[in-house]
Amino acid sequence: MVDDEGDCYVDDKYQPLTLRDIDSYRVDPGLQDFLERKRAEAGVPRHEFRVLDFGCGRGQSVALLRRQGWQAYGLEVDEQWIRYAEPGLREAGLYEPGLLRIGKNAGGPGFDDGFFHLVYSSSVFEHVLDLPAAVGDITRMTTAGGWGYHWFIGRWSPVERHLDMPLVHWLPKNRLRWCMVAAAVLAGKEPGWKAVAAMDFWQRVNVYYDYSVRETIYRPVTAYQNAFIDAGQQVELEVLNHPRLRGSRLSALNQIPGGKRMLEALCTTFKIVIVSTQKPATA
Ligand SMILES: C[S@@+](CC[C@H](N)C(=O)[O-])C[C@H]1O[C@@H](n2cnc3c(N)ncnc32)[C@H](O)[C@@H]1O
Repeated sequence: MVDDEGDCYVDDKYQPLTLRDIDSYRVDPGLQDFLERKRAEAGVPRHEFRVLDFGCGRGQSVALLRRQGWQAYGLEVDEQWIRYAEPGLREAGLYEPGLLRIGKNAGGPGFDDGFFHLVYSSSVFEHVLDLPAAVGDITRMTTAGGWGYHWFIGRWSPVERHLDMPLVHWLPKNRLRWCMVAAAVLAGKEPGWKAVAAMDFWQRVNVYYDYSVRETIYRPVTAYQNAFIDAGQQVELEVLNHPRLRGSRLSALNQIPGGKRMLEALCTTFKIVIVSTQKPATA
């Protein structure tokens, strides 16, 4: 996850999860709030409420939710993240086989149809290459009447958060973007990945550019909304319900006519998108 502190996923997390990582991790307050509300709505105790972290990475959020008593699981496309997760989960006494799995779309066992009360993801959708397949699998694994909560980076956020470089993802994936990456590196704007520390200027530019081309894909919000609708789910923008925004001065905009829509559009375009979903109770 790329958090508000600019935490860099690519480099610093290519190493096993530790107990310290789990201890210092905080579940996003918006997700925590949503989980509580939906668990109460379902009338199910925490230890029976099954939640899936879709694109769980090293599984730190699964570990923390398990500690809090939720029945949390993780799904990945990349086996290496599951390997990195295991030492920390074992050390924390939270490990059990099958807790984190490779999804069916990636040739793994995945989870059964309708297994989860709630599926969430953090900073995953801007990495998902086949959106209909991912949303279809999320929908399949969600129980009838179950929910989803997904946050990801807004398409026109001024800074590409993985690279810590301004505007590079605004440009097409061609020489133009490559030049922008080179300009950013020249200006000293780099993410500080340890893996590239020994490389020269041009090598670093190529690594960053390749990452941006191969690992990220920024789409309009409507593409995500339509993908969930096409999969048969209801979808709503959730960004204004986030506790951090509710408590901020920006929320005063809510009071003026049209202010809510404007604030929602500004947040989802330039900062983050949060969508909540619900699968109909009957098929
Ligand atoms: C930026 S990381 C975020 C990891 C984790 N959610 C976190 O907050 O630390 C994106 C993750 O999404 C995973 N991912 C990308 N596409 C996926 C897909 N179609 N299904 C499941 N996971 C996917 C990647 O392997 C990677 O671990």
